[in-house]
Amino acid sequence: MAKLTAPAIRSRKVREGHDPLVMVTAYDAPSARIADDAGVDMILVGDSLGMVVLGYDDTLQVTIDDMAHHTAAVARTRPRALVVGDLPWMSYHVSREETVRNAGQLVRAGASAVKLEGGSKRLEMVRAILDAEIPVMGHLGLTPQSIHAFGGFKVQAKGLDAARRLADDAHALVEEGCFAVVLECVPDVVARMVTEELDAPTIGIGAGAHCDGQVLVFHDLLGIEDRVLPKFVRRYGSMKAAQTAAVAEYASDVRSGRFPGPSESYHLADDVAAGLGLYGAASA
Ligand code: KIV
Repeated sequence: MAKLTAPAIRSRKVREGHDPLVMVTAYDAPSARIADDAGVDMILVGDSLGMVVLGYDDTLQVTIDDMAHHTAAVARTRPRALVVGDLPWMSYHVSREETVRNAGQLVRAGASAVKLEGGSKRLEMVRAILDAEIPVMGHLGLTPQSIHAFGGFKVQAKGLDAARRLADDAHALVEEGCFAVVLECVPDVVARMVTEELDAPTIGIGAGAHCDGQVLVFHDLLGIEDRVLPKFVRRYGSMKAAQTAAVAEYASDVRSGRFPGPSESYHLADDVAAGLGLYGAASA
């Protein structure tokens, strides 16, 4: 099947009869293969990398080099899904030149589009990246790179003015040329209103059922990460429990001498073993 592209995603509005878009994060080759084999439309190499893979408490520690390293690992698997590289905090805030260079670094690493957080404040940078022929995905609502400004991880656009601002920002991003917009942690009716108004698809996470697509973090949906369970996550597996049990069984087999067994060991031909004075060792 043909590789998915940003223009192809741009045309996928549910109201025009398309199936909802499916996006999932991935940060390395095995997770990218799982996502692509499962048939997702987009793989987001998200800066959630910082929290679910690199062990930080937030996404603000993630650098453009971290993102390029992990984007390259995902892209090496040559997925059919569109690979979207997330621009980390401070990679698109300083100047147009730095922004374009950083977006280019993710494309050279294998991304076919980039995502950045924020609305009208970021339009200049969106335009600069688009001028370099790189498709841009927007991200509004609870934008985790703004947690200090927001005062924590909080649902956004709950008040009248905030909901109108979010809708205006979404329009501005799409008018500037973004091919899709992520809506994170906003009331479902606000996401529905924005989705109905926009010509480009919305991708929800904690934004209800009426978006044109959904995104979840790989480790959340598989239950690899079980420390926090946001309300909007549905777990489709308990991989941490399964993996911990498997490693514990391995540890127990090593300690009791049950691993490795004869079928997991290499053997010497009897005549060579005998020549070494190890008669019997080969078949032991
Ligand atoms: O970094 C990320 O994983 C994201 C998604 C949650 C949208 O931005």
